[in-house]
Amino acid sequence: MAKALNRSLSDAKLAREDEFYTQLPDIERELRHHKKHFEGKVVYLNCDDPRVSNFFHYFSYNFEKLGLKKLIATCYKSQNADLWSQNDSEHAIYLEYAGDVNNNYSPDPEEVGIRPLNGDGDFRSAESIELLKQADIVVTNPPFSLFREYLRQLVEHDKKFLILANQNAITYRDVFLLLKENKIWLGYNNGQMEFKVPDYYEPRATRYWQDEDGQKWRSFGNMCWFTNLDISKRHEELILYRTYNTTDYPKYDNYDAIEVSKVVDIPIDYNDVMGVPLTFLDKYNPGQFEILGLSGTDYPTTKKYGKKERVVDGERMKSNTGTLGCVIRTDSFGAGTHFDVGYPVKGIYRRLFIRRKRPAS
Ligand SMILES: C[S@@+](CC[C@H](N)C(=O)[O-])C[C@H]1O[C@@H](n2cnc3c(N)ncnc32)[C@H](O)[C@@H]1O
Repeated sequence: MAKALNRSLSDAKLAREDEFYTQLPDIERELRHHKKHFEGKVVYLNCDDPRVSNFFHYFSYNFEKLGLKKLIATCYKSQNADLWSQNDSEHAIYLEYAGDVNNNYSPDPEEVGIRPLNGDGDFRSAESIELLKQADIVVTNPPFSLFREYLRQLVEHDKKFLILANQNAITYRDVFLLLKENKIWLGYNNGQMEFKVPDYYEPRATRYWQDEDGQKWRSFGNMCWFTNLDISKRHEELILYRTYNTTDYPKYDNYDAIEVSKVVDIPIDYNDVMGVPLTFLDKYNPGQFEILGLSGTDYPTTKKYGKKERVVDGERMKSNTGTLGCVIRTDSFGAGTHFDVGYPVKGIYRRLFIRRKRPAS
C-alpha cells in the first residue's frame, strides 16, 4: 500500500508540477493597473481554491471597491489531489459571491457557501465551462503544463483575462501569434516572483528555500502577466536616443534583419527589420512598432547551413546544438563560442523581429 502510494506520488510529480501559490502582494501590484475594467463585472477564478487562493482573497476583499457584480471560484480536484493539494474535501468545489454592502473584510469562504461540483473542476469540464460563460473577466495563475489549452479556451470563449504564466509561453507558436496579432499583451509586473509550493516538492539547488515555519518556496525570474485588458503602458512611446551604424548593429548571417542586443538601444533612425530580445514585449506599443515574427518559430531564414562545427576558444569540438537561432558573422574563431558554417559565426539568443510602424499611406 505504502509502495503503491509512493509510486502514485512520484507519477503525479513526474506528470507535472503545477502547484505554485501566488502571493497577495504580487496580485495587488498588478491589479492596481487594471481596476477600471472591473466595475459591474463577473470575475471567474477557475483554478483557485477559495479557501487558500490569494486571488479569491483579493477580489472578495475588494469586491465593493471594484464594484464587482459577482465573483466565482472553482477548485480542481484531481485523482491525486489528496497527495498534493491544500484541500482535503471529497469533491471539487465552487463558490459564488455576490458581495455584502457592509463588507470591509475578506469573507470566510465557508460562510459564503462552498458547493460541491459533480466532476473534478477541470477548467475544461462542462460545469466549469458553464461558469466560464457567465464570466466577463477570468483572473488566475493557471497550471503551466496546460497553459496552451488554457489560453486557447479563453480566446475561443471570447473572454477578457489577466493570467500569470512563465515567460517561456511567449515562444509557444499559438501564444506568440496572439501577441503578434495584438490580441494579447503583457501586463505590468513581469519578472521575478516567489510562490509557496506544497510540502512534497523536492528541494532544489537554486530558487528554492524553506521559511522558519517549514513552508517551501520556489521563485522564478521570468514570470509574465498575459492580458487582453487595455492598459496605458501599451500606448506609451518607448523613448530612444541611439542612431544606426553598421558596427554596433550587424546584420544577421541568416535573417534579413539587424541585431539590437538591448531594447534601449533600438536605433531611432532605422526603418527596416530589427532583431530584439523578448524583453521588448514588456515595452511594446503597437502604435510605435509592429511585430513581424520570432526566430525559430515563424520567420523566414535567408540561409540554411549544412554541417556545422562548434569552436570554443579556437578549439574544435562536437556540437550538440540543434538550431543556431540568429547568427552573426565574425572575423575569426577567437575567444568564446563560435560555429564553423564554412566561416566563423556566433549564435545569438532567440530574437523577436520588429519594425517601426509605417504611417498608413
Ligand atoms: C499555478 S497553481 C496556482 C493556484 C492558484 N491559482 C494561485 O495562483 O495561487 C495552478 C492550480 O491549477 C490547478 N489545476 C491543475 N490542473 C487543473 C485543471 N485541469 N483545471 C483546473 N485547475 C487545475 C492546480 O491544482 C493548481 O492549484
